[in-house]
Amino acid sequence: MTAPKKLFIKTYGCQMNVYDSERMAEALGGQGYVETNTPADADMILMNTCHIREKAAEKVYSELGRFKALKVDNPNLKIGVAGCVAQAEGAEIMRRQPAVDLVVGPQSYHRLPEMEAKVRGGGTALDTDFPEEDKFEKLKSRPKAARGPTAFLTVQEGCDKFCAFCVVPYTRGAEVSRPVSRILDEARNLVERGVREITLLGQNVNAYHGLGANGDESTLAKLIWDLDKVDGLERIRFTTSHPNDMTDELIEAHGTCSKLMPYLHLPVQSGSDRILKRMNRSHTVESYLKVIERIREARPDILMSGDFIVGFPEETEADFQATLDLVKEVKYGYAYSFKYSTRPGTPAAERAQVDAAEADERLQRLQAQITSDQREIQESMVGRTVSVLFEKAGREPGQMIGKSEYLHAVHADVTGIAKGDIAQVRIVEAKTNSLRGEVV
Ligand code: 5AD
Ligand code: SF4
Repeated sequence: MTAPKKLFIKTYGCQMNVYDSERMAEALGGQGYVETNTPADADMILMNTCHIREKAAEKVYSELGRFKALKVDNPNLKIGVAGCVAQAEGAEIMRRQPAVDLVVGPQSYHRLPEMEAKVRGGGTALDTDFPEEDKFEKLKSRPKAARGPTAFLTVQEGCDKFCAFCVVPYTRGAEVSRPVSRILDEARNLVERGVREITLLGQNVNAYHGLGANGDESTLAKLIWDLDKVDGLERIRFTTSHPNDMTDELIEAHGTCSKLMPYLHLPVQSGSDRILKRMNRSHTVESYLKVIERIREARPDILMSGDFIVGFPEETEADFQATLDLVKEVKYGYAYSFKYSTRPGTPAAERAQVDAAEADERLQRLQAQITSDQREIQESMVGRTVSVLFEKAGREPGQMIGKSEYLHAVHADVTGIAKGDIAQVRIVEAKTNSLRGEVV
C-alpha cells in the first residue's frame, strides 16, 4: 500500500467556503488524500479564497509566496487556488504566481479529482466554468466518520440581486437552489454522524426555492419545517438573508418552530435611504425596521445580527449618522461592519470615493457603538438560563464550551456532559467574548 498523500486546506471568507472546503477534502479523499494541519508536510496545498474585499483578495498572493517556498524542500508539492479569487481572476493567478498548479472556481469542485490527476502528471489545470451539472450531486459522498455536533449545509448558492458594491453575483453566479430531497438526505446523514445543529447556508438563503417532494417549488420556511421532522436534529439556523425575502411564513416560523434558533442575521448595509438606493438594495430603512418589528412580535427574544458598509461612494456625514441611528434603534447582538472596498467590475467602483481617512473614522465610530450594544446585550444575559449545545472541551480541566440559542459562546464546569449534549445553563458572568455559566 502506498502512503496517503497529504492535503492542507486554508479557508478564507464566509461559512460557505468552510462548507466547500469540507466537500473538496472529501473529493480528494477519493484520490488517496488525508488532511494535515502542517503545510510543510503537504503534497497538495489548497487555498479556498475570498474576493469580497480587496484586502482578502490581496492576502492570497502574500500567502502564495510563502507556500511557494515550500516547493524547494518538497518537489512533490502542488499548489491550488479555489474559491472566489479563483473565479474572479482565473488564469491571471498563474501568471502572477507561477508556482500555482491548479485554479478551480466554486462551481467546479466536483472536477477536482481529474484536475488533481492532471497536475500530478506535471501539467497545470484551470476550471472556472459555470457547468450545467449539479456539483453538489457529483460531490456527494456519504462518509460515515463521526463529526462535531454542528455543521453547515449549503442549500442555495449565488445571487441575482446585484448590490452595487458586491462581487458575489459574478463569483458565485446566478441563484441556484438545491432540491429538498437532497438537502434532507444530507441532513439525515449528518445527524447519523453526530450532528445536532445545522446552519443552512446560502448567499441569499431566504430566497431558497428548491424543488419540493411534490414537484412544486419549496421555500426556506417549508424546508425548515421539513428539517424540523428529522429526529435527532435539535437546532436549525440559516444565513445570510436579504430583508426583501423575509416572507410571512418565515417570520412566523421564528415564533412557532421550536428547533429554529432565536438568532437572525439580516444585513442592512446602510441606514440612509439615499445610500441604500445607490447601493441598489431595493429596500428602505422603514421596510427593514418593519421586518424586524414583525420578527420581534413573533419571537420577542430574537437576537439580531447585521452587516454594514461605511464609506460607500457619496456617503456624507449625514448618511453615516443615519446608519448610527439605525444601529442604536435595532440594537444588534452581533454586527459586522466594513469599510467600503472598491471591487473591479462592480457598478460602485466607478463612482466618487469617500476620503479614506474619513471612512476609517466613521468605521471606528460605528464599531464603538456596535461593541457597546453587544456588551450590553451580553451583560443582560447574566442571571438568565439559556440552553447550550456543548461542542468541545474548554481551556480549563472539567470545562466545556458550547453555544447558546443566541449563538453566544458559553463555557461551564460540567460533569456527565458529553460533546453534543444540550443542557440548561444559568449565566453567571459576561466576559468580553464569551459567557460563563453553571449547569442547572
Ligand atoms: N466592500 C466592503 N464590504 C463589502 N461587503 C460586500 N461587498 C463589500 C465591499 N465591496 C460586505 C457586506 C456583506 C458582507 C458579507 O460583506 O456588508 O453583507
Ligand atoms: Fe452581494 Fe447584495 Fe447579493 Fe448579498 S444580496 S450577495 S450583498 S449582491
